[in-house]
Amino acid sequence: MPETSSRTAPPTLRWVGDALTGTLELLDQTRLPGEVVTLTCRTDDDVFGAIRRLSVRGAPAIGVSAAYGLVLGVQQALAPAPGPLSGGRAEFDAALAASAEKLAASRPTAVNLFWALARCRRALSAEPDLAPADALARLLAEAREIEAEDRAMCAAIGRHGADLLPEFPPPGDGPDGELGLLTHCNAGGLATAGDGTALAVLFEAHRRATEAGRRVRTYADETRPLLQGARLTAWELTRRGVPTTVLCDSAAASLLATGRVHAVVTGADRVAANGDAANKIGTFPLAVLAHRFNVPFYIAAPTSTFDRDLASGDEIPIEQRDAAEVLNYGDLRTAADGAEAYNPAFDVTPANLITALVTERGVIPSPTTAAVGAHLAGA
Ligand code: MRU
Repeated sequence: MPETSSRTAPPTLRWVGDALTGTLELLDQTRLPGEVVTLTCRTDDDVFGAIRRLSVRGAPAIGVSAAYGLVLGVQQALAPAPGPLSGGRAEFDAALAASAEKLAASRPTAVNLFWALARCRRALSAEPDLAPADALARLLAEAREIEAEDRAMCAAIGRHGADLLPEFPPPGDGPDGELGLLTHCNAGGLATAGDGTALAVLFEAHRRATEAGRRVRTYADETRPLLQGARLTAWELTRRGVPTTVLCDSAAASLLATGRVHAVVTGADRVAANGDAANKIGTFPLAVLAHRFNVPFYIAAPTSTFDRDLASGDEIPIEQRDAAEVLNYGDLRTAADGAEAYNPAFDVTPANLITALVTERGVIPSPTTAAVGAHLAGA
């Protein structure tokens, strides 16, 4: 996959060109914060690989990338060399199905992946009479629409989430009047097409506080083992001038005990019908701690992250990742020889530990199956 590096940060993802010859550019998140490298995906295999090795990651960004990956998959199948698409609509549909099947196997937990693939396929099966070239243009239009909607969802989530936060935080042991917000992993602009989900809330809280002459301090769990918090979240927050403190995941209890944190806000990869929410490993213990210290625990996620087909979080498939991520530090083995690894990429926070779910539609306080169902009605 071709790479280019630059000093200024390009967007998380960007489609360049038309439906027949365009490419998907991705900011390679495995290289941040040290290097700003853009990957150019020309095939759905390129997109598959980028999702799999976390060059692009975060539930909504995975969904948007997969939608563009379908366009590349059809291009590659029906126009492997420059020129018009070969074959008729049957060949187009077969190429689309094969590409969707391939991309669906990239990562199992974030439901936005499956949601975006299904949405693109539905859009095309609703127009069976389109000729292949028009069908490909329609596919690209659907992917662009998913991207644009995601951007708008992030902005709405930011506003709804910030509305939940106290305007004047109760004094803690930190500097008086400073609103402390703790997050885990990266649910920011790097994980979405917009400003993020949890981070959109933090950005909006910071914007409002600054306007009112008050201060916000964000706390980013480093997020072992791949350090999305230290590498990506702290990068996003500091670039935008938001005061940021990084902590080891295991320091969260002692931080919460100081009273400096007024709310915990994270994203999600899949929310079940009863409000149980899968997110990056380490989110569940944070919810337990927040409960222990009486700090509100919010999960911010677009409705595309909800999976109404799963009654509870017990049914959410959890990705198990390579042992080397836990046993090594980079290429250096740090665990004792012979030790094995437990490396689930996500855990499930039960709904009864979630103070509220925040979506682009508003807020679901104390989520239950009935409340989630009512919130999603018509979505
Ligand atoms: O393994 P990752 O980095 O893809 O995990 C990402 C997360 O857990 C995010 O918190 C989640 O996708 C929310 S993104 C807005």
